[in-house]
Parts: sequence; structure tokens; C-alpha cells
Amino acid sequence: MRAVRNKADYEVLCDEIWHHNRCYFQEAAPEISDEAFDALVLLLEKTEREHPEWISPTSPTQRVGERPLEGFAEVVHAEPMLSLEKAFTQEELEAFYDRVCRIVDRKKVDFFGELKMDGLALCVTYEHGQLVRAVTRGDGEVGSDITQNIKTIRDIPLRISSEIKLLEVRGEVFLPKAHFDRMNAERKGLGLPLWANPRNAAAGSLKLLDSRELARRGGLSCVFYGISRQDPVKVHYQHELFSYLQLLGLPTYLSMKELPMTPLRTVSSVDDMMRFQDEIRAIREKLPFAIDGVVFKLDNLDESATIPPTMKHPRTAIAWKFGAEQAWTRLQEIVVQVGRTGVVTPVAELEPVELSGSTVARATLHNAEEIERKDIRPGDRVLIEKGGDVIPKVVESDKHAAHRQPQWRMPKECPACGTPLIKDEEEVAWRCPNHQHCSEQIIRGLTHFVGKDGLDIENIGEKLIRHLYAKGYVKAPHDLFSVSKDMLLTIEGIKEKSAENILKGLEAAKKPALDAFLLALGIRFVGAGGAKRIAEAAETIEGFTQLTKEQLLGVEGIGEEVATSVEHALADTAFLHELQLLRDAGVAPLPRSKREGVEGHPFNTATIVLTGTLSSMSRTEAAKRIEACGGSVTDSVSKRTSYVVVGDEPGSKFEKAQKLGVKTLNEQEFLQLLG
Ligand code: IVH
Repeated sequence: MRAVRNKADYEVLCDEIWHHNRCYFQEAAPEISDEAFDALVLLLEKTEREHPEWISPTSPTQRVGERPLEGFAEVVHAEPMLSLEKAFTQEELEAFYDRVCRIVDRKKVDFFGELKMDGLALCVTYEHGQLVRAVTRGDGEVGSDITQNIKTIRDIPLRISSEIKLLEVRGEVFLPKAHFDRMNAERKGLGLPLWANPRNAAAGSLKLLDSRELARRGGLSCVFYGISRQDPVKVHYQHELFSYLQLLGLPTYLSMKELPMTPLRTVSSVDDMMRFQDEIRAIREKLPFAIDGVVFKLDNLDESATIPPTMKHPRTAIAWKFGAEQAWTRLQEIVVQVGRTGVVTPVAELEPVELSGSTVARATLHNAEEIERKDIRPGDRVLIEKGGDVIPKVVESDKHAAHRQPQWRMPKECPACGTPLIKDEEEVAWRCPNHQHCSEQIIRGLTHFVGKDGLDIENIGEKLIRHLYAKGYVKAPHDLFSVSKDMLLTIEGIKEKSAENILKGLEAAKKPALDAFLLALGIRFVGAGGAKRIAEAAETIEGFTQLTKEQLLGVEGIGEEVATSVEHALADTAFLHELQLLRDAGVAPLPRSKREGVEGHPFNTATIVLTGTLSSMSRTEAAKRIEACGGSVTDSVSKRTSYVVVGDEPGSKFEKAQKLGVKTLNEQEFLQLLG
């Protein structure tokens, strides 16, 4: 067996494994057999056990995080991570092209076109060839240190040529479509809510504090498309960047296999740009990952570096965004779904079809009137559309088929409990009025209670709730806390270990934040923002039960609708009884103390709206500082707003402030008051 006698031998072995790793994963051209590779890794592991003092942070064994992180540290970006200006029309692209020509004082400019990956921006720093840091975009100025998690992504090398003193690269972490589908299928089996798209799924994974879990899930990939710092300077043109990074072993669009065309192109006119985006749009569906447009960057990077960016984006690059995607498929059936508030919505069950990077089998039909207006019938061929995160919707149906089924009619009775449906004059929605006993309303209410907008109880999703309800174990939220291991073991598919995890999740959920608890109760019109404001005003659960409508109306951001709805709930004996039973079951929401302000500070207890761009700090930073003084930042201007802070290029909030006579502050005045 080969001997590793000293640190130098050890380093050679590390390099060798990295080399084979790259041949295997990036070039798909292994030079040695899997067995020979495994033998090298075994030797490395043995050496590290014998000489722990040699272990390098970039050893191939360090790829999988060994310990859970305690939370992510914040890192200030050496160069801010800006976003890109967007163009949706040819006119916008022309305006951009002309503007850059004017700035560089030439009639024609070369741009470089590339894919706009729909993932999560990442900044990775290599020092003396070693990966030292990986940071998320965050608010552009400050991101989270996710180095440990990034080390689990196989195509990101932990070391590159040691001759490179400094290289900071920017790119995108993404989840290929195939992995996304697999992950959702697994979640569906477990009855967990599905990820809306690959980007959300990737974000969910990256946020995991335990990188071992991330390594287990696997599937994340990365592509780099920019350099923010380099020493020595090697790249002067964007078109050189990809082959340079590729040479260093970093993943780029060039290392991607099985693409129907080269996704990179030098373009020198708006016509070229339009042609490029057209061609890319045509192959979008065939790509193994999700993109949401193409990006055009000034090819000459040295020239680009001399043109200062605006507060938000570089002046020399633009993102061409694709609009919503559409596809034709067969409408198999229209089913009606009962929500937790009794609203009954028609849902289209479709022949599964690929759309914007995921498989779509259901789409919303909004309401009965819309189905009638668009004359959509079961069995029709229908056009469905999906833009961004939005749930797919049915746009239209093909009305020329030879045989169509009769027009669809909303059932007269609730499909779950048989109660006649009702509809208010001015509303379009039909609802089931049987709030106390309709099984679907109860199940949906329970699912909401345990879900993300509720107590966020781990390991419990709709599927388990349906079982617990069907078995008669759980009829109301408080029953959840009397669920026993024996009960869980009667449910198909639940074994000892998962039963224990479910019980652990329930135990942990007994001390929710007051706002999460109020949100979980599912009071009509009370969303996350409202629950937070009510919790702040009430401070404790006792305080909540004693709130009057007048007091609620005095809370900033709480209007008539919410106040009336809470008043109704607090006068409803069944609601109050359930609250008591939850408390008897040991659920004790944590009191929410009022924010401690800075006594006498002009912003203490003030409500402030920010509009436009500030040059001295980001909006997140401004909001943080206002809150630290005891003020709160809200989105919309009302008479009760104390100040509107007006930055560069303010929006309509400035006009509204003037109209309502709300005091405005320019940046300097704001900074002075902030102190
Ligand atoms: S260049 C100044 N190139 O799009 C920002 N960005 O809206 C420089 N993105 O935050 C980014 N593909 O997360 C660039 N080929 C590409 C990209 C790309 C996706 C993302 C990136 C950025 C966002 C901008």
C-alpha cells in the first residue's frame, strides 16, 4: 500500500483526490476506476485519523459538514451584491442599449448574453487557492455565511490553483428540475406542503442549519457567472470569463452537459439580443434547470468597471425577463375544494404537463362566474399559465372540439358535509356555512393550525391530519396535544421513530410566540402582519381575550375589517372554549413584550414609511435603526404615519404623504433625527 510519510505526501494525496473528483463530476471523464478512487479516499481518511494535525480545511473529507451550525453569521460583502435592471419589451432593451452607447461614447457596443438562472445568488471567496467563504446575497450589503452548506455541493471545488491569491466569484445555486420533482414526490408521500418551484426548494435546503442533512438531500448545483475581485487580474472580457473559470475547475455554463445549444453569445445590436432571447426561450423547456430570462452584460469588463452603478444595479447590464409560460393540456375534471373558512373554490384537475420547470397537475379556476364567463368545461383542452411563484391558472379553453361536455355547474351543496352552499350578493365566492361541523373546514383549519402560517409543527402535515381526523382522534386543535404514541402507531406507515418525532414536534409547539399562536387560530382577516400587531398590543394571551374593538382600532395597521372579526371571535363562546382547552392542554404562548424604545427619541413609538433610495444606507439598515429607537416601519402611508422618509427617486408614497399632510424628511433630516 502506498505510504503517506509526511504533510507534503498528504497534500499530494488531497490534490490527487480533488483532481479525480473533478474528472468525475465536472468533466464526466474519470481517469481511474471507482474502486481505485475509493481506495484513495480510504487512505486519506486513515492518514487523517493518524495525523489529525495535518487535516486541511479544504481536504476532500471536509466536503460534508461535520457539525451543525448554530445559526449563520452575517458577513458584509466586500463589493455589494446588486441586482439587475429588468427589461420586458424591445423598447426597454433599445433604451438600455442607447444609454450604454451614450455613456461609453460609441455608436455600437458589444454585449455578452447568457442565461438568467432562476436560483439563489452566491458569493464565494478563494484565498491562495482555498475556498474560505461562501455568502448569500442577503440584502446586497450583508449576507449570511453558508460556507459549511456550500461545501456539500459537489461541483464547487474547495481548492483551486494555489497561485491565485484572491478570487471572488459570483454565481447561482440551483436545484435541477429532476431533483425538484423527486423532492416534491417525496414530500407528497409524507403529506408535507410541496415546494412551489425549484428556487424555493433550493432556498429551503440552503437554510438548513445542519449541513449533514443538506448533504443527505443532495441535488444542489451551482454555476458561476461573475468575478467581483481578482488578484492577479486575468479576465478583461465577459466572454473570456467562462473559459477561465472553467479552467480553474469552477462550474460554469460551459461545463453543463446536454444543453440543446450554447447558452452564451456575443451580441452587438438590439436585433442580436432579441434573436438570442428568442432562441433561448424556444429551448427553455428542454433545459434541465429553471431560467427566468437572459442577461446582457457589457462585454468589456475594464470599461464596465469605470462606470459607477446606481444604488440598486449596474448601469452596464440588464436582465431580459421571460413572461408567464403557457401550455395546452386536457382538463380532466373540475373538483370543488372547501377552504378552512368555508369558501368553496373550483379547481382544475389536469393531465400533468411540464410548465416553468415543474409538472403541473392542478390549476385554479378562481370561481364559478369565471368558469361560466370563459365557458370552460370538463374534458376541454385548456391553456394554462404560470408566472413566477403564482399558482398556475387556466387562461382559456379550446371551444372548437367536436364533442364537448355540458356546461359545468357549481354544486348546490357542500361536497364535504352536504350543507346547502350560500353566496352573499356582493361576493363572487360560494361558501359552506357549516363552520362548526363541516369536516373539510375542520381538516383545513387543523392543517393551517400546524402549518407554516400557524404553529409550524414539524413532521405534521395535511396527510397526517386527515388520518387523525378520520380515526376520530383529533377534531379540534387542542386534541392534537392528547395524541399518544399508541394512537399514532395505528396509522398506516407510522413507525416507532416517526411517532416519537411527531410527539416531539407537538411538545415543542406548546410554547409558541403569541403572534404565531394568534395566526394559527385562523381568525378571519387576521394575517401575519395583523397577528403581529395585535400580539404587540395585547402582550399576553389574557390581554388578547380582553381587547375591545376600540382598542384594536387604535392599533396602527388594524382596520375596521380585522377589528370586527376579532371582536366576533372574542364574543364566540366556542372560540373562547377552544382557547381554554388549548391552555388546559399546556399550550402557553410566550408573552410579547412591547419593543423597548429609546426614551425621548423622536422616533420612539413613531410610525415611519420609507420611499425611494437612501444613499447612506440600505432600507433594511434604515428600518433596523428606526426599530432600535422604538419606531416601526410600515409600507403604506396613512394619516397616522408619523414621518415619510424620502430618498432618491421616491414612489407614489411621497405624493400620498403630501396629499395627507404627513411630515416628510429628506435623507439629511432623517439622519439628523436618527442621531
Ligand atoms: S449578473 C449586479 N448573471 O439575477 C448583479 N446574474 O436580478 C450581477 N442571475 O442577483 C448579476 N443569472 O442572482 C448575473 N447570468 C447571470 C445571472 C444572474 C441569474 C441572478 C442573480 C442576480 C439576479 C439579478
